[in-house]
Amino acid sequence: MNPLKHVAIIMDGNGRWGIKHKNSRNAGHKAGLKTVEKIIKETIKNRIKFLTLYAFSTENWKRPKKEINFLFNLLENFLKSRINEFHKENIKLKIIGVKNFSKKLNKILISSEKKTLKNDKLQINLALNYGSKFELLNAFKYLNKNKKRINENNLKKYLQTKNIPDPDLLIRTGNTHRLSNFLLWQLAYSEIFFEKKLWPDFNEKDYNKIIKKFSNIKRNFGKV
Ligand code: FPP
Repeated sequence: MNPLKHVAIIMDGNGRWGIKHKNSRNAGHKAGLKTVEKIIKETIKNRIKFLTLYAFSTENWKRPKKEINFLFNLLENFLKSRINEFHKENIKLKIIGVKNFSKKLNKILISSEKKTLKNDKLQINLALNYGSKFELLNAFKYLNKNKKRINENNLKKYLQTKNIPDPDLLIRTGNTHRLSNFLLWQLAYSEIFFEKKLWPDFNEKDYNKIIKKFSNIKRNFGKV
């Protein structure tokens, strides 16, 4: 059985789900949030220590303003209503990406991180305004500017995922087979599962099926 410390998820398919069921992409995001809740619970049940969720990419700014505002409102209300419970459940929240949202949202994100900083049951990394190319370029630029040696160890220290083990497993829902600028460095040896279901339809059973398949894979990390 493979140890499973870190699951990363590209939660794709909200928009299509929303259009299909309610003729509204935003309805899909709302439904997607329910899946987020289910998957957090199931991650704890499986005693997985890190869960990274791709919630908003650097490219997602190209979406209509109305959809962007809806997503941020959803996130704001989600954190306002759930952060105390997360804290009680010993969950740590970390934002990966650049926090350049409204003052109000930035404040909520920072205070949520601060509140849960010492928790250690599950760490949820919420990727927000996250782009892997930007993250890597930034790290290289920092090393170069500070005349530090460019090697794997040094680079890792300047990634947003500093001190987080690389994902063992990546799941992308929504029947799309691409990485979309997500954790390009960190996913070098992750097992990747593409799931046909749209994110709002993805459930605990689907998640556990993937975890079971993952546990039976022979992971060689380049060896034989
Ligand atoms: C991708 O689906 C999904 C997103 C860009 C947003 C993810 C947001 C959620 C799951 C809900 C909110 C989560 C939090 C943590 C507040 P898409 O819209 O690109 O779907 P499509 O490919 O069908 O258009």
